[in-house]
Amino acid sequence: MAETSPQGARKIILSGNRPTGRLHWGNYTGALENWVRLQDQYDCYFMVADWHVLTTALDRAELIGHHSREMFLDWLGAGLDPEKSVLFIQSEVKEHAELYLILGMLITMGRLERNPTFKEQVKDLDLGGEISYGHLGYPVLQAADILVYKAHAVPVGEDQLPHLELTREMARKFNRLFGELFPEPEPLVTRFARFPGTDGKRMSKSLGNTIEISATPDEIREKIRPAFTDPARLRRSDPGHPEVCAVYTWYQKFLPEQEALTAEECRSAARGCVDCKKILAEGVIEYFAPLRERRAAYESDPGKLDEIISHGCEQARKVARGTMEDVHRIMGIG
Ligand code: TRP
Ligand code: SF4
Repeated sequence: MAETSPQGARKIILSGNRPTGRLHWGNYTGALENWVRLQDQYDCYFMVADWHVLTTALDRAELIGHHSREMFLDWLGAGLDPEKSVLFIQSEVKEHAELYLILGMLITMGRLERNPTFKEQVKDLDLGGEISYGHLGYPVLQAADILVYKAHAVPVGEDQLPHLELTREMARKFNRLFGELFPEPEPLVTRFARFPGTDGKRMSKSLGNTIEISATPDEIREKIRPAFTDPARLRRSDPGHPEVCAVYTWYQKFLPEQEALTAEECRSAARGCVDCKKILAEGVIEYFAPLRERRAAYESDPGKLDEIISHGCEQARKVARGTMEDVHRIMGIG
C-alpha cells in the first residue's frame, strides 16, 4: 500500500548520508536496508551529503568526490533503484545553497548553539574555539536539503531528531511569515539503530570496529574471527550468554533461522565460539553475495555509473528549481 499525501499523490521522502567511506553493516541495518523498502511506498529522494562533510573534514576535502561515487556503488549494490528513486549528489543541486541562505535568516544563533548534536561534536572533535560558521549552520543546510523537495517524511536515526526539529521550526517560521509552502516533515525513526561492531560497541567508523557491506569473503572471515563474544566464556566448556555477544546479534539479523539453535548450543556449551563464528561468516558471505555482485557490475561500468548519477542530479535539480520559483514568488524577491 502506497502512502499518500492529502493531494492524493505519494508522499515524499528525503534522506541523506555523508560520504566518508564505504558503508558498513551499521549503516545498512540502521538506514540503507530501510530505504530500499521505502522506495515502493513513497516518492524517494536519496542524497549524498557531500557539502556536509566539509563541516568536519575540510582537510580531507580531496577525498569527498571519490567517496561520493563509492556511496553510489554501495547504494546501487544494496538495491536503491534509480528507476524508482531519485539518487543524487547535494553539491550538484545549487538550489540547496540558496534555500540554506534564506533559512539562515529564520533561526537564531542561540537556537543553533543549543543544538545537542552540535554541542556533542564540539566536545568530541576537540575543536576548541575553532568552530566554523558553516559547522554551526549544519542543520540549516540539512533543513534546506529536506524542504527544497517539500518532503513529508525523513527516515533518520535517533541522533538526527534534533536536526529534524530545527527543520520543522524553520518550515513553520517560513510558512507563517510568507505563506504556506513547506510541509512540516515527520521523522521516520529506524529501528535496529544500535548495531554492534567487532568490539561489541556500536558499529561506527570512528571506532574502527566496522565490517563493510562490500567486504570480500576473506575480509568478512578475517574480521569475524577475532570479534567480541561473551567475555565470561573463558574455556570452551563454559556455558555462554548469547545476549551479550556481538556475534549472536549478527545471527539475529542475518541468519534468523539459526538464531534459536545458536542460543541453545551457546548456553549449553555444545558449540564453541570458533565454530560459531565460522558458521556465521559463511552465512553472512552468502547474505551479502547479491549486493557484492550488483556493486561489482556497476563498478565495472563507470560510464553507466556516470549516467545514473547525472540523471539523478538532473531530476533533483528540476524539483528543487520548482520549489525555488515558489519561494521567489511568495517572498517577492529572487
Ligand atoms: N546529517 C545527516 C547525517 O549525518 C546527513 C544528512 C544531510 C541528512 N542532509 C540530510 C539526513 C537531510 C536526512 C535529511 O547522517
Ligand atoms: Fe557468541 Fe556464538 Fe560464542 Fe555464544 S558460541 S558466545 S553466540 S560466538
